[in-house]
Amino acid sequence: MVCESSDLSEDRAARDVLELVELDVPEPQAGEVRVAISASGVNPTDWKARAGLTGRAPEDFQVPHHDGAGRVDAIGPGVTGLAVGQRVWLYLAAADNTYGTAAEFAVVPADKVVPLPDNASDELGACLGVPALTAAYCLGGDPSAVRGRTVLVAGGAGAVGHYAIELAKHAGAQVVTTVSSAEKGELARAAGATSC
Ligand SMILES: NC(=O)c1ccc[n+]([C@@H]2O[C@H](COP(=O)([O-])OP(=O)(O)OC[C@H]3O[C@@H](n4cnc5c(N)ncnc54)[C@H](OP(=O)(O)O)[C@@H]3O)[C@@H](O)[C@H]2O)c1
Repeated sequence: MVCESSDLSEDRAARDVLELVELDVPEPQAGEVRVAISASGVNPTDWKARAGLTGRAPEDFQVPHHDGAGRVDAIGPGVTGLAVGQRVWLYLAAADNTYGTAAEFAVVPADKVVPLPDNASDELGACLGVPALTAAYCLGGDPSAVRGRTVLVAGGAGAVGHYAIELAKHAGAQVVTTVSSAEKGELARAAGATSC
C-alpha cells in the first residue's frame, strides 16, 4: 500500500490518499535490513501523516505505517546481530524512510529491527513500536529508574497507558492508574496496576 504526496493544507480521507500497488522489492543498503512483514500496526501518527496533518509530506510515494513484525529477509553490508529468517519487530519504520510496514517487505535501518521472542505473536510485535516506546519515554527513557517507586499512570486502559503499566511493573514499581469504568479497571489490573 502506498500513500501519494499530499497537500498539507487539507485533511484528506484514506480512500483519497491510499493506493494498493505493486512495487519492486527494495534492496537493503549498508546498515539496513529487509523484513518480510507478517503484521503491520496502525498508530495515530500514521493516519495523521496520511491525512496531511503533520509537517512531513510524503515525497513521490510513501509506504505507510511505522510499526510491524515479520522475519529478516535480507541484510545489508555492515549489519551485525541479526540473521536471515529471524523473527523481529520494527518501530518507526516510516520515519524519514520510504518503506513503512504496510507492504510485503520493508527496508529499514538495522537499529529499528528488534528480535521477537518465540512466545510473542507477530500481532503483539506489531503493536509495540510507537506506543510502547512512548510509554518508555514517559517513564524517563529507562524504566528501571522507577524500581521501588510508586508510579501514577493517567489513562491506564489506553494504548500508551497499558504499556506504561507493564513496563513500570516489570521494573519493580507499584502502579496506580486512572480509568473511567470497572471494565477498563480490569484491563489496567491485568496489565499490572495495583489500584485504579
Ligand atoms: N498511541 C500512540 O502511539 C501515541 C504516541 C505518542 C503519543 N501519544 C499520546 O499519548 C496519549 C495517549 O494516547 P493513546 O494512544 O494511549 O490513547 P488511548 O488509547 O485513546 O487512551 C487514552 C486514555 O486517556 C484517558 N482519557 C481520555 N480523556 C481523558 C480525560 N479527560 N481525563 C482523564 N483521562 C482521559 C482514557 O481513559 P478512559 O478510556 O478510561 O476514558 C484512555 O485510557 C495521547 O495524548 C496521545 O496523543 C500516543
